[in-house]
Amino acid sequence: MNLEQEIAKRKTFGIISHPDAGKTTLTEKLLLFGGAIQTAGAVKSNKIKKSATSDFMEIEKQRGISVATSVMSFEYQDKKINILDTPGHKDFAEDTYRTLTAVDSVILVVDVAKGVEAQTRKLMQVCRMRNTPVIIFVNKLDREGQDPFDILEELEQELQISTRPLSWPINMGSRFKGVYLLHDNSLNLFEADKTKKAAEYININDITNPDLDMIIGEADANKLREDVELIQGVFEPFDVNLYEDGLLAPVFFGSALNNFGVQEMLDTFVKIAPSPKPRPTDIREIEPMESKMTGFIFKIHANLDPNHRDRIAFLRVCSGTFERNKFYLHSRTNKKMRFSNPYTFLADSKEVTQFAYPGDVVGLYDTGNFKIGDGLTEGEKLEFKGIPSFSPELFREVVNMDPMKSKQLEKGLNQLTDEGVAQLFTQQPGNRKIVGVVGELQFEVIQYRLEHEYNAKARFDSVNYHKACWMTGNLQKIEEFIKYKPQDIVKDKDENLVFLAQTAYILQMAKANNPDIEFHETSEFKVG
Ligand code: G4P
Repeated sequence: MNLEQEIAKRKTFGIISHPDAGKTTLTEKLLLFGGAIQTAGAVKSNKIKKSATSDFMEIEKQRGISVATSVMSFEYQDKKINILDTPGHKDFAEDTYRTLTAVDSVILVVDVAKGVEAQTRKLMQVCRMRNTPVIIFVNKLDREGQDPFDILEELEQELQISTRPLSWPINMGSRFKGVYLLHDNSLNLFEADKTKKAAEYININDITNPDLDMIIGEADANKLREDVELIQGVFEPFDVNLYEDGLLAPVFFGSALNNFGVQEMLDTFVKIAPSPKPRPTDIREIEPMESKMTGFIFKIHANLDPNHRDRIAFLRVCSGTFERNKFYLHSRTNKKMRFSNPYTFLADSKEVTQFAYPGDVVGLYDTGNFKIGDGLTEGEKLEFKGIPSFSPELFREVVNMDPMKSKQLEKGLNQLTDEGVAQLFTQQPGNRKIVGVVGELQFEVIQYRLEHEYNAKARFDSVNYHKACWMTGNLQKIEEFIKYKPQDIVKDKDENLVFLAQTAYILQMAKANNPDIEFHETSEFKVG
């Protein structure tokens, strides 16, 4: 197979959801369809239970699971499908944001009863930044939930994306009868069967067909006819170009647990989801078809086991063919590197690979060279764009508890923040260090790792900050602003100026009083 065929064959995507909406269950059903696993229950949830926060070995075990399931690949209808897994626990949301920079599309799972939830909103914000195409799966129709029209309205309003249902539920909860496929007028009747693999569709040709009354009962048939009429009146026909531009999300209804409604979504996904697309860099756009290999690191996973200090860096291949044992240029440091044991991932295992193609993810053993966002090329010096840091949500000041070990502490903080575990902000004068994270759990992970891996002891003192905002704009105005608020100005690791706003109100006032300064909630501006 040539490069063009390899690229056309690949669909690399992520499944995103608020915890408990059904991401793990859906992932597993997709793998079952792909024949990548044989039995339900084979995919372990990568959720880190809150009760495990003080038990680090438990966290590590859970993190271990999440490495094994970082990328799950399977073949379906001659396509190679790569699912990039995203951590379920909200404290690791930053990992999820980064992973989303490496996908070409996403499937968003929403619980029919709960609708749009906090994490759904945030994750979609990240997708919107990159115009990532989205397919929505409304899950748990075997339970009572919101009216499907209300769900669509909520999705549109809250997520700022147009929707177009492609399947439509017939009742729900204990009266759930199945779904009607709007594009080919067929019925998929619901059976509460967790082991069923392939769906059986009944074609009724036309919604007015009297057979429909016989099959689902007169009342449900009439309701369905009304709903379909309304859908056809309100929604434009599905336009795949709008989907590709991230403006329109096709919506499917079903029950992942019962493997119901999943197949029609997967079949549509295989048809419409984009293959690897061109990627922007600081100097030019990279086309997947270019013969030279390029790729970037979007995730680094460290081993907490002190006997195995290696880290695994995850490379998304963007162009050309990645080859084992070939020398590549690490663009940031200008170093040549080669990898003797790069591996790719199957559903629940990994294997050393000779070649990988655009859209694939390769696991590289790393001894501390990589940083999130780093590029590998065949000689060209370039930086990939669109791998931003997001404003952390919790901030603490690092206090060194052992003055003899300040070097170790500095090194530890630097390396852990390179991995993307947290963000480090430094204030001058004074070298005051503030660590920002997305979730409480990360402070505990950092403290544990500083102690066990770097032999450094630190305490994290509360500091009252609400958001970190990267500042750009009129330099003179920025300088005046810094003089006015020196205690809230810090620099990130790349020496960018950051304003730490103590409250939402203060941030709002700062924006209003300083129209010549732009306050960015992600570091994207510097690369995008
Ligand atoms: P997540 O990865 O998005 O966090 O969700 P996960 O798949 O783990 O699902 C969360 C819970 O919702 C699980 O129940 C799962 O069985 C259930 N679930 C998923 N899909 C459906 C569905 O279509 N219908 C119904 N009724 N339930 C569904 P749990 O009790 O938390 O876990 P478990 O003990 O069943 O694994």
